[in-house]
Amino acid sequence: MLQDQNLEENLHSVRMLGLKLPTDPRWVNIAEKTIDEILIDHAFCEQKAATSGITLIVKYPDKDSVVRELAPLVAEEWGHFRKVLKEMERRGIKMGPKRKDEYVVHLKNLMMKGGSREQQLVEHLLINAIIEARSCERFRLLTLYCSDADLREFYHEFMVSEAGHYRMFLDLAKEYMPDDYVKERWKYILDGEAKIIESLEMRGDRVH
Ligand SMILES: [Fe+2]
Ligand SMILES: [Fe+2]
Repeated sequence: MLQDQNLEENLHSVRMLGLKLPTDPRWVNIAEKTIDEILIDHAFCEQKAATSGITLIVKYPDKDSVVRELAPLVAEEWGHFRKVLKEMERRGIKMGPKRKDEYVVHLKNLMMKGGSREQQLVEHLLINAIIEARSCERFRLLTLYCSDADLREFYHEFMVSEAGHYRMFLDLAKEYMPDDYVKERWKYILDGEAKIIESLEMRGDRVH
């Protein structure tokens, strides 16, 4: 079990990421018991991060900053996918069948329907930003508290990288709609995400 001081640290990092609800610290205790499943789920997350970046570039080729920022992001996320695969191979774990990502399904329901093309782009960028922020928070917990020293080290790089992506997606959103508009949508998505996290069963076989 985590100590109060650790809980304080978690709250601090959650505030830095803007998230409204910190992950229940018991999640690490549950996750580390089924770490094979976490690695598999993580592999799927990285795969989805790369494909979602490609989809945005394909949909918005005329948005120069999207193309410029997301082209290297896709390469980085694919690199993450390969790193997770390598770690899985080392442990004799296979990806297995496709998984449904409940967290992401719920998040997509927070997206505003309609609006201009730029407004829709901003919705996508903000959903990507929140997934990066929550992933970063969970990787940080693994980095700090996972009992497997190799994995503590392994997750550090992902934590740093996803924190950078979170900022990049938020900054990109502000290029396409005014600051106040983005702030309002971001607040709505943050509040909605907190409710989703609260409503989802705490599972040790999922990153989110
Ligand atoms: Fe990643
Ligand atoms: Fe990322």
